[in-house]
Amino acid sequence: MSTEDSTFEDKISDAIANPQNMGEMVDADSVGTVGNPECGDMVRMWLKFEEKGGKKVIDKASFQSFGCQTAIAVASMATEMLKGKTVEEAEAMNSSDLSKPLGSLPPMKIHCGEMVEGALREALRSDSGASKAPQPAPQVSSNTLLGDMNQPNLKKGKLKVVKLDD
Ligand code: FES
Repeated sequence: MSTEDSTFEDKISDAIANPQNMGEMVDADSVGTVGNPECGDMVRMWLKFEEKGGKKVIDKASFQSFGCQTAIAVASMATEMLKGKTVEEAEAMNSSDLSKPLGSLPPMKIHCGEMVEGALREALRSDSGASKAPQPAPQVSSNTLLGDMNQPNLKKGKLKVVKLDD
């Protein structure tokens, strides 16, 4: 038997006992937010970039999640994993990659990982073309996850993962 024998619940418990990189990043270069109308959960991810060896890499990433423990666990692991990744490497990562330390997500939890992937994609997209000039801090302080929960598109949408306007 190996450490692989830890149950999914054990891994989630371990991850949320000490979540990494949780909270708003006030000096972020980009931010992405997605929500799931069916479960009502949301994930927001902030990214900060730096130049390293002539490449643009993720210096740090942080997140907020409202609701689901699996999304928190995946986002915590993902934001750790993303440090030092180039934009291209980050773009190539899917929800399975981002949740790898948890093993395969149960069918009912797959969308939790997809939310984290969606938030990452939105954050990467929101930065595209904006990296040449110094950017002001994104307008994230006035938006809260709770505030976004009241947005009408979150309540009536049918998509599994939807981008929410920042
Ligand atoms: Fe919906 Fe986890 S239950 S994101």
